[in-house]
Amino acid sequence: MKVTVVGAGAVGATCADNIARKELVEELVLLDIKAGLAEGKAQDMMQTTTLLGFDTKITGSTNDYSKTAGSDVVVITSGIPRKPGMTREELIGTNAGIVKGVCESLLKYSPNTIIIVISNPMDTMTYLTLTATRIPKNRIIGMGGTLDSARFKYQLSQHLNCSPADLNAVVIGGHGDTTMIPLMRFATWNSVPVTKFLNEEQQMKVAGDTMVGGATLTKLIGTSAWYAPGAAGAALVESIVRDEKKLFTCCVSLDGEYGQRDICLGVPVVIGKSGWEKIIDFGLNAAEQAEFDKSANAVRSMNDVLKTL
Ligand code: 2OP
Repeated sequence: MKVTVVGAGAVGATCADNIARKELVEELVLLDIKAGLAEGKAQDMMQTTTLLGFDTKITGSTNDYSKTAGSDVVVITSGIPRKPGMTREELIGTNAGIVKGVCESLLKYSPNTIIIVISNPMDTMTYLTLTATRIPKNRIIGMGGTLDSARFKYQLSQHLNCSPADLNAVVIGGHGDTTMIPLMRFATWNSVPVTKFLNEEQQMKVAGDTMVGGATLTKLIGTSAWYAPGAAGAALVESIVRDEKKLFTCCVSLDGEYGQRDICLGVPVVIGKSGWEKIIDFGLNAAEQAEFDKSANAVRSMNDVLKTL
C-alpha cells in the first residue's frame, strides 16, 4: 500500500507522522510546493523510527508528483490555514485554485486513488474535488465530521468527567462554526444517552463549544489546529487500508440521502477499502432535519462562490 499526503504544513506533517507510526503502509510520500520542506520533515520523521520503533518508509518531495505514482490513498491538506478571526469560508478563493491543481496532478499519476480532503473550507473543497475530477463519488471523502465528532466527544468527556473512549457521538452537517450539528440525541456514554446526565444548559454548552472548537484553538494558537485534524485524517486512512469498515462522519456526495442532492455534506458513512462504502441513515427527527437543511443551504451558497472564480 502507498499513501501520499499533500501539504507538509502542520496538519499534513502530523497526519503523515500518525500514518507512519501506525505502520499502515509500505510507502508514504509527503509532498509540498515549498522547496525542501517535505524532504526535511520526511527525514526528521525517519530519524524517529529507531526511537519510536516503527518501520515506514517516508519520502519527501518538492512538488514532484511522479514520486506519488500508484498511491492507493491521498490526503490533501494544501492551502492556507485560517488566522484568528477568520472563518474557514474566507479561504475559498485561494484554496480552490490550489486544491484543483493538486487533484489534477495527483490523478495523472494515481488515477485510481481514494482522495481524503482536509483543506478548508472543507465542504466546498470536497464538492470542488468531486465536480473537477469526476472520479467515482465513493472515492472522495471530506474529513471534517470525523474531527468535529472527536471534538464533540472531548467536550462531553469534560462535562461527564469520563473517558472520551467510552463515548459515542457524532457531528453531522457542514464543517463550519455555524453549520455543524452535534447530534446530542444520539450521543451515548457506554450506550446510555448522555441526555440522561446533562441538563439542557449543559447540552447547549457542549454543543456550542464543539461548534467553535476549531475557532477556539485558532485563537489560542494563532493559526489553525493540527494534532486532531492530522489524527482524524490518519484514522480515515487506517480504516481504508485495513478495510476496517468503521463508521465515521464524513463529507460525501449526497444523492437524495438525508433529503439532499448535488452537495457534499457530513453524514455517517462506513469507510473501507473502496472509500466511503455506504451512508447510514440515523433517522433524523423534524428539528434535526431542519438543522441539516439549513446547514446544506449555507454550504450550497458557499459552493456557488466556485462558479464566480
Ligand atoms: C479545524 O477545524 C483544520 O478545519 C480544521 O481545526
